[in-house]
Amino acid sequence: MQTTIGENIEQAAELLKKGEAVAIPTETVYGLAANATEPDAVLKIFKAKERPHFNPLIIHLPNWESVKKYVDNIPPKIEKLAQAFTPGAITFLLKKSERVPDLVTAGSPKVAVRIPAHSIANQLLKLLNFPLAAPSANPFGYVSPTTAEHVLEGLKGRIPYILDGGPSEVGLESTIVEEADGKIIVRRKGGVAVEDIENVLGEKVEIKTGAEEHPTAPGQLKSHYATETPLYFGEIEKWLSIFSGKKIGVIEFENNAQKINTPFRFQLSKNGKMDEAAKNLFRLMREADASGAEIILVPPLPEKGLGRAINDRLQRAQHDWK
Ligand code: TXA
Ligand code: MG
Repeated sequence: MQTTIGENIEQAAELLKKGEAVAIPTETVYGLAANATEPDAVLKIFKAKERPHFNPLIIHLPNWESVKKYVDNIPPKIEKLAQAFTPGAITFLLKKSERVPDLVTAGSPKVAVRIPAHSIANQLLKLLNFPLAAPSANPFGYVSPTTAEHVLEGLKGRIPYILDGGPSEVGLESTIVEEADGKIIVRRKGGVAVEDIENVLGEKVEIKTGAEEHPTAPGQLKSHYATETPLYFGEIEKWLSIFSGKKIGVIEFENNAQKINTPFRFQLSKNGKMDEAAKNLFRLMREADASGAEIILVPPLPEKGLGRAINDRLQRAQHDWK
């Protein structure tokens, strides 16, 4: 199959109406989209990504009004967060209506719903009378794409079309939240900071992203967001002594890895801006991966705002050294 990159929204819409999987831009990362109401179309997403098992998928809609067709109940705190943050980098887990196939939710009674804040994605969604199921448009386990070229590197020959909407402005996947017993739970840290959610609600939220519930050594975790070059996060001193003599690549926030003397240096933000670091993270992970460095070291970022989501991605990208 030939894969074309283009800016033709109508062409993308026609392919999606025919049941094809098409890569689309969003402000978080590029998604690999298909008609969420057609299981055969959704299966093409899993096939192109080579996902070894069926993970539930986020459905994307053009506005909050249209969400009501696909969910059965919207708790008041979720409504409040939707008013504050949609369209945007936040996903809500809500009780699904019968219109949502079980394949999309992997059998769960809840569906993940997001309204992207990206004008091209929004124009596309308005041309369709169905939601788009879309995971990040990368082969299973690899770094998420933030440009059309990143998508092509990973999925060339596996999908017909990549709708180019420029580099993703946020650069981190959406924050996933749900409500249980009147409380908001964060299921994935992402493009909307936990502190901002707490400010809107006027209360603390619970964070349950899996890592807290099943604390496992990094070596046992299935790598996600991983580079092919082994990446090590945190405790830089320790890694430096273990890997002395190797060509070391370093991804630093601003100037927090000056001690490491190496030409393979990638800076997330020149002036310590967290949103800029988030936007650059996945691109620089790819560049470090392709640089010729034998290992990649990353010191942790300040654990506040988007820094918490960035640290989470780096933790999951760590090399499985078992
Ligand atoms: O920013 C984003 O969220 C991007 C763009 C394309 O919208 N999408 C994205 O999708 O990151 P993906 O598939 O890479 O990550 C979705 C996450 C997965 O961890 C999945 O397990 C979780 O959302 N998820 C989706 N539906 C769910 C459900 N019904 N229940 C629990 N978790 C769900
Ligand atoms: Mg993903």
